Amino acid sequence: MTASALKKRRREKEEFKASIREVLKNKSVQSMRKFNHHSDTTCHRHCMHVAYYNYKICKFLGLDEKAAAKAGMLHDLFLYDWHTHSKETGEKWHGFTHPRVALMNAKKNFDINDKEKDIILKHMWPLTVALPKYKETYVIVFTDKFCGFCEVMDKYVRKFV
Ligand SMILES: [Fe+2]
Ligand SMILES: [Fe+2]
Repeated sequence: MTASALKKRRREKEEFKASIREVLKNKSVQSMRKFNHHSDTTCHRHCMHVAYYNYKICKFLGLDEKAAAKAGMLHDLFLYDWHTHSKETGEKWHGFTHPRVALMNAKKNFDINDKEKDIILKHMWPLTVALPKYKETYVIVFTDKFCGFCEVMDKYVRKFV
């Protein structure tokens, strides 16, 4: 990689971090570090991955990268360990219900606009039947699944390398 490409990448990472700086300071967001999500990846790290790729892809496509990054960081703010949640509460539909819980927690802590609400609420589409209203929501539908897949595979890949 050339020096100018490295410089560009560093600048983009700084811009990304600046776009979610306030979100990252929040105690509820920080508490996602306590919960394991996919394999060895915490909820916080997964949300960082999704937020980063949301930001990169939306910026490349000329979409709202700031809303995509913020909602990406908040999309799984359900604040429990989903591996034990069903046993502890009897609630068996985490895959369907957690976007609503994440949105409720996001609203408690931040001002959430319509686009951010759509991104959080429908990130599990097509599990959540209603169609995404914004292009940024289609982006998270992809990045969430892509990051989840890579996080699960990472554990197995590391066993062999
Ligand atoms: Fe999710
Ligand atoms: Fe997710």
